[in-house]
Amino acid sequence: MTYVIAEPCIGTKDTACVDACPVDCIHPKKDSPAHAEEEMLYIDPVECIDCGACVPVCPVSAIFALDDLPEKWASFTERNAKLLGFHGTEGVGSDRPAHLSLA
Ligand code: F3S
Ligand code: F3S
Repeated sequence: MTYVIAEPCIGTKDTACVDACPVDCIHPKKDSPAHAEEEMLYIDPVECIDCGACVPVCPVSAIFALDDLPEKWASFTERNAKLLGFHGTEGVGSDRPAHLSLA
């Protein structure tokens, strides 16, 4: 299982979760050019150790354990997982597949 960041992060991008994560698996990193371009942050499902430390620090409650993710935000599971494809690229916002944009 993993944790997933959902819609409330969009436009908020508080980044408290980044500081709380012990394995630094929330991307794009603050020092990455992509950080400013992305409208939200994502959890790398491979790196995430499922510790839950990021959940209580998010001011807009955007982070959920996969099992607790509200159905209406189910698409965010894939959206977070797609992050893996972003590694090593610049301008992840423009690289995001069209089907991942919000309806
Ligand atoms: Fe990181 Fe733990 Fe959350 S590994 S992304 S703080 S569940
Ligand atoms: Fe987003 Fe909440 Fe983290 S708003 S950046 S998930 S602290």
